[in-house]
Amino acid sequence: MAFKPKKLPTHLAIIMDGNGRWAKRRGLPRNQGHKAGMAAVERVINYCLKYKIKYLTLFAFSTENWKRDKEEIDGIFDLVRNYIKDYRDSFVENNIKVDYIGNLKPFPEDLVSVLENIKKKTEKFDELTVVLALNYGGRDDIVRAVNSIINEGCKNITNETIINHLDTKNIPEPDIVVRTSGEQRVSNFMLYQMAYSEFYFPKIFWPDFNEKAFLKILKTYQKRDRRYGGIK
Ligand code: IPE
Ligand code: IPE
Ligand code: MG
Repeated sequence: MAFKPKKLPTHLAIIMDGNGRWAKRRGLPRNQGHKAGMAAVERVINYCLKYKIKYLTLFAFSTENWKRDKEEIDGIFDLVRNYIKDYRDSFVENNIKVDYIGNLKPFPEDLVSVLENIKKKTEKFDELTVVLALNYGGRDDIVRAVNSIINEGCKNITNETIINHLDTKNIPEPDIVVRTSGEQRVSNFMLYQMAYSEFYFPKIFWPDFNEKAFLKILKTYQKRDRRYGGIK
């Protein structure tokens, strides 16, 4: 099936789930699942470049993931830190802008500076924008937006006011939200931004994600009829 360029999603958002179960099935510790998940991150970025997707958001750590063991959390931070360091040149070579959403305040200082540096270094690039959702919660995003609106003394709040105060203010709404591993819930992902997103829940565990699974997302999206409340 040929891909009609017009029918490609501009923004693909992925809830990367199933790392722990992938590891458990192999008798490995959970962090080995996260490590394999990082390799899948590298692959999905390449598929986005190949198929000309402009925005890719990856849900990497939620505001609820602090409930996990410290060892697992530290392991995830290490993987993110090393990944960005290892791929810094590759982002530049491929014209990839790296951005993040979420509240970085509780993160270790060195991780925050790695994230801020890569954001600064790649801010002019426009082939693909990779958005990492880190300590991200849809509710937290809305609460922080409301507080900043109040602090600015704004009285007449419109939908645009809210959109312009969310972490995603520079990013279009996701056209399709994909959650791997077969779970069918949003787990506090982009609540406000998903108002008209398409949803797709493939069974594949995130570390197994491959080009076939990626193409299945595009094919699924192409079959959807987005009506936005209207009639065609
Ligand atoms: C997703 O995989 C990665 C993060 C939430 C950081 P999980 O770690 O949730 O994997 P499962 O759901 O336990 O299989
Ligand atoms: C959602 O996955 C968060 C990320 C993928 C980062 P979880 O595994 O944390 O979600 P629940 O606990 O199954 O809802
Ligand atoms: Mg999970």
